[in-house]
Parts: sequence; structure tokens; C-alpha cells
Amino acid sequence: MASKVFELIRQEAHRQKYGLEMIPSENYVSKEVLSAMGSILTNKYSEGFPGRRYYGGNEVIDKIENYTIDLAKKLFKVPAAFVQSYSGSPANMAVTMAVCEPGEVVMGLALLSGGHLTHGAKLSFSSIFYKAINYDVRGDDWKIDFSQLESLAKKHKPKLIWTGTTAYPFKLDYRKFRRIADMVGATLVADCSHITGLIIGGVHQSPVPFVDIIMTTTHKTLRGPRGALILVTERGLKKDPEIKSKIERAIIPGIQGGPHNHQTAAIAISLEEALKPSFKKYAIQITRNAAVLAKELGTVSETHLILLSLTNYGYGLGYQAQYALEEAGITVNKNTIPGEPASPFYPSGIRLGTPALTSRGMKEKNMIKIASWIKRVLEEIRGLDLPKEQDKRKDFLKAVKAQLHQNKNLKKIRKEVESFAGKFPVPGMD
Ligand SMILES: Cc1ncc(COP(=O)(O)O)c(C=O)c1O
Repeated sequence: MASKVFELIRQEAHRQKYGLEMIPSENYVSKEVLSAMGSILTNKYSEGFPGRRYYGGNEVIDKIENYTIDLAKKLFKVPAAFVQSYSGSPANMAVTMAVCEPGEVVMGLALLSGGHLTHGAKLSFSSIFYKAINYDVRGDDWKIDFSQLESLAKKHKPKLIWTGTTAYPFKLDYRKFRRIADMVGATLVADCSHITGLIIGGVHQSPVPFVDIIMTTTHKTLRGPRGALILVTERGLKKDPEIKSKIERAIIPGIQGGPHNHQTAAIAISLEEALKPSFKKYAIQITRNAAVLAKELGTVSETHLILLSLTNYGYGLGYQAQYALEEAGITVNKNTIPGEPASPFYPSGIRLGTPALTSRGMKEKNMIKIASWIKRVLEEIRGLDLPKEQDKRKDFLKAVKAQLHQNKNLKKIRKEVESFAGKFPVPGMD
């Protein structure tokens, strides 16, 4: 009898095909990437690096890893690449270990300003084992506060400064970060996980001329399998000629054991895909789609991502919007907004993006239609008296979901969304 898991995968495939995936860090990988992920390469142990393994039988695996490294160096135009990190968070841990001694100062954008956990958030390794100092975005225009960053850097003398965001709809100016890093002698690391596809496509400035090290996940706009790359620039090699061996040591034995060879091979395939001219078209379309969607929703986006404040509906209602949109077949996530007036658990915004929709071939006119569904859903919940966190009712989330699940207007929108989404092919499935 087939495992129950295959039936659950079928159900998830249905959700991915007939819904609108609008979480900005998600995407659809190709059939070729899926085949490599599901290949026999998962059977092999290969602790170490090409030509320097602890196990025998790695002749082919060495070729795969070297090929992936060469592709990464070519695509990003950097002299050194590491492809074994299991995902973005362990890669950021490896970078931090390579650059800093425990207890030294790391600086990153605050979680509530759209930074990542691994850039110095409370409870993450980055503030448990290092002294984390956070900078913020400004309350008025939501852009990075470089004057605060400069004065914090002068005061705390960080060893490492992170540039990188998870919920920031504006372009980053790496030159400004470099100027501040140079003032205090810090190593500057770009975590471009969200925007790597845009950088490769030429619609966002490249960090390569400005930073010492780059970390990127491979599964967001880059459209590869889950995983991460660590890249060192010419500048980074000059700053610390030992940095390559420090990164290797941080990966293994620092935090990892055997690499996931099936994942490495799938990363190679996604890098081959990103080197094709069609990838540039895809990247341009992501930002065009996001700009139109943002405008229709009454805000702006310069990237793939939209951060929408719902404070005109009340404070802390991001979860209501997330659940209502999910009922309508549209997947987004609740998110804090700068200066969040409610709590990080029940924040006042939603975060949405266009990479996955763009991979399905959707264009600007489709964004106008999608924005109209989103606005209808938001208007629908405005008219409902849904239970709130502030009511201090223990089961309020369950009650919100139950009420939304019965809503006839949301069901009607879902039908429209399903029939629309079903017409667009899904890479890797159709
Ligand atoms: C900017 C950034 N860095 C790192 C990560 C961590 O990646 P992972 O979830 O693969 O550990 C993320 C994931 O959301 C991210 O957005």
C-alpha cells in the first residue's frame, strides 16, 4: 500500500496549483530541480570538501560539488563560493563564526524593522553567543536609518555588519553600508536571500563591489531548492586572506556534518537556470508585478515584496487578514510594520510578494485582478465583528478561523481564485 504521505503531497500540490502563493520568500522550482532533490545522491556521505573527504567513494560527488562551486562563482562573479550549508540560518551562523569570536559585536537590522532572526534577534544564536546591536528603519518613510546605524557603529565598534532584510520593500544602497563599515573596520556581509534573483536579473544593485561576504538562500527569488550559498568577494579575500579556511572550518566541523549532495546537485541546476537569458526577463517581471500590485493596494514596492499596513482596519489585525485571505485561496503572511503598535505575535500588517506568481507566467494585468480580490477580502473582514486578541479570550484564534471558514463571500472569492489560478501552469508540476 502506498504511504499516506503521497496522498498528503497530492493535497499540497492541489493547494499550490489552485491557490495564489504570495509569500515573498516562496517560489516554484523546475522539474529538473525536483528530480535532483529526489535522486540517489541522498544516499552518499561526504564529510569534508572536494578532494578532502573523510569517506571513500566520493569521486562523482566531488565533481558535482566542484561544478556547483564553479557555477556560483560565474553567476555572482566572485572568486570563492561554498555550497554545503543546509539552509540560510546555518549559513549565517557559519559566516558569523568565521568572522567573529564569541562575545564580539554583530550589528543587523532589527527583527521588527524587517531584519532576520540570525542578524542579532533576541533568542537567536546571534544574540546568545555574540553581542548583538540592532539598527532600525525610520518610522516615517520605513527606510533604513543610516544616521542611527552610523552612530551605533561608532559607539559599539562591530566586528560584523549585516545588510539584509526579510520585509523591506525598498532597494538597498550597499555603498552607504560600506562607508559605515569602513569607518569602524567592520566586515560587511550582505544577506541577499530575498533579492538574489533580482540582483542576478540586473534589477537590483549587486553587493559584490561593496561587501566582503555574501550569503544567500537558494530557494527564494533564485528559484532553487532549499539551501544556501556563502560567497567571498575580492575585497573580502583582501581584508582577511584566511577567510576561506575560516568559513570551511565553521561549516565543518563547526556546525555541520555530511553535506546534502542531492541538494547541492539541485542548487547546480537552479544556477544553470539562472544563467539563462530568460531568468533576467523573470526578474524584471517580478518587480513590474510587485510595483503594480503595490500601487493597486495603495502603497509602493521597489522589489518583489509589499508590506501592507492594516492600521486603518484597527491594530493587530494581520492574522485576521492572513486567515481570511487563506479562506479565499490567497496565501500571505501576517507581519509587523515599522513602529508596530500591537504585538509581534498579532501584528498590524501583512507581507506579500510576486515571485511565485511570476514563475507561473502572471503579468501586470493579472496583478490588478488579484489586488481587487485582496481588497474585497479586506473589506469583508472590516464588516465582520471578529474576535480579537485584545478580547483576552483564550480560544480567539480558533473562533476567528471558524467564523471565517463559514463566510459565504470568502467562499465565493475562493471559487473565482481557483478557476483563475488553475489556468496558469505550475513549474515542476504541469
Ligand atoms: C534574509 C534572510 N536570511 C536568512 C534566512 C534564513 O533562511 P532559512 O529559512 O533557509 O534558514 C531568511 C529566511 O527567511 C531570510 O529571509
